[in-house]
Amino acid sequence: MKRLFTGLQPSGDAIHIGNYFGALKPFLGLYEGYESLLCVVDYHALTTIRDPEVLRKNTIHVAKAYLAVGVDPSKAIIFRQSAVAAHTELAWIFECLVTVPFLMQSHAYKDKTAKGLEATAGLFNYPMLMASDILLYDTDIVPVGKDQEQHLEYARDVAGKFNRSYSKIFKEPETHIQKEVAVVPGIDGEKMSKSYKNTIPLFAPEDEVRDAIMKIMTDSDATIPQNVHAIHSLFKNSSELDSLYSENKGNYKFLKDALANDLLEYFSDARKSYNTLSDSKVETILKEGEERANSIAEAKMREVRKAIGVR
Ligand code: TYM
Repeated sequence: MKRLFTGLQPSGDAIHIGNYFGALKPFLGLYEGYESLLCVVDYHALTTIRDPEVLRKNTIHVAKAYLAVGVDPSKAIIFRQSAVAAHTELAWIFECLVTVPFLMQSHAYKDKTAKGLEATAGLFNYPMLMASDILLYDTDIVPVGKDQEQHLEYARDVAGKFNRSYSKIFKEPETHIQKEVAVVPGIDGEKMSKSYKNTIPLFAPEDEVRDAIMKIMTDSDATIPQNVHAIHSLFKNSSELDSLYSENKGNYKFLKDALANDLLEYFSDARKSYNTLSDSKVETILKEGEERANSIAEAKMREVRKAIGVR
């Protein structure tokens, strides 16, 4: 059976609608036809979080979000990256294959350090850990938002370099980016991102969700508030929106309320389900996933270790 893999960083306590439309929804649309893995990439989040309690809490939040949006844990392997040591082991092997100038081309590294994030070696090597996540499982397809495109190219490149340097062990994965939702805009019109503080959270209390929507930037000259409309189009089709926006020209408050109602209704089941999931239930599911992921990863690592000449 072909494999599907995706991951989210527990780098904030608020999965947002960009994560949902860019990665989770495409995953949900595909995962039952594959052997599917859904990872909480906690070691990646170590590039931004140094508080252990925060990292633990965010990890549970992301795993809960996976379940709340409808991923059935009997049909997908849901696990923590740090629970499968092979991810960091393989990352080291890849780091010994790629060059510094190659990693220097990373847009994510340049953007993050330009925004003031400390330029740690972990942040620099981030794409090799992500390549390991994907390649360890002979992944065929990776659903992600557009911001991850270059990371997928890194994964394919290092797979090719390994295969040429040693033996043909790794499969080059395909990226799955859904065009219409490749870049979900935030409340300021830029890409929605935790680090830009422009998100609409999925599971926050209703008043926080409404507050975020009320803060969507509008251009006072425009009759159609573009940023509101762009986000609204994730929930309603264009003919429904055309009549709503033309009948309520210039009435931004009304249109933002309409968006908030539509968004809350769209996520109503997921939000209810999120609140009924206990942390201990989530821990049990992560533990089961960890065992399944480890057995696949260990078998792969035996091949890798043999190929490179270690134990
Ligand atoms: P992360 O945690 O930043 O985001 C998780 C997923 O959400 C998508 N996404 C968006 N899609 C559309 N519009 C947006 N505004 C938006 N914001 C976020 C991201 O593209 C991503 O698919 N490096 C990855 C995590 C990772 C990973 C992996 C992903 C580590 N290993 C292996 C796939 C496979 C990241 O930081 O995503």
